[in-house]
Amino acid sequence: MDVNLNISVQLSALQVMRDAPVIPVIVLNDVGQAVRLARALVAGGIRMLEVTLRTPQALACIEAIARDVPEAVVGAGTVRSAADAQACAMAGARFAVSPGYTHAVGQACRDAGLPLLPGVATGSEIMMAQQDGLSALKFFPALQAGGPAMLKAWSGPFGDVRFCPTGGVSIANAAEFLALPNVACVGGSWLTPADALARGDWAQITTLAQQACQLARRGG
Ligand code: 3PG
Repeated sequence: MDVNLNISVQLSALQVMRDAPVIPVIVLNDVGQAVRLARALVAGGIRMLEVTLRTPQALACIEAIARDVPEAVVGAGTVRSAADAQACAMAGARFAVSPGYTHAVGQACRDAGLPLLPGVATGSEIMMAQQDGLSALKFFPALQAGGPAMLKAWSGPFGDVRFCPTGGVSIANAAEFLALPNVACVGGSWLTPADALARGDWAQITTLAQQACQLARRGG
């Protein structure tokens, strides 16, 4: 965790991936929870936070975290269009994560100065992202699309790519992914369980973040 987080520093996608073993995938319905959640994760050692654009409140949540939690680096997830990329950059997102890849999303993120972790699940998608200069990629949905065995198969032809497997990853199987040399980190929603959010159980979220930070990793 030696990355300079200063707002004026342009992070790379690889720096976003290398900061901690896990990037939490966050779904927020309540702007009132955003800052407390971000602080709970930061207290547990997780600074790179992916707030998904899946709720009407997501952009306001990104804005609140960017404004009030300078120790965190808030990014936007579920970025599916150029308009999403522009909107999340305006809200203060420092990186973007997408479930797939299109040249339009890649271009919009470049234009907005946002490092992008694009989702890939096939060799052709990896090649398309690489063609546009991207080599730090999200493997999504990781478990359903082949899991660790798929990442091992890709390490030959795509040895220069680093992955963040996301989708079906949990504390139970994260270590298996993180042991692979081409895995820089994993992503997952298990750090922010809906019931803990509903209860406002920030201590539980800090504990889950601390536990995630203890995971060993080989790649990156
Ligand atoms: C998602 O986009 O929802 C992420 O992949 C999180 O998946 P998970 O809930 O299986 O961790």
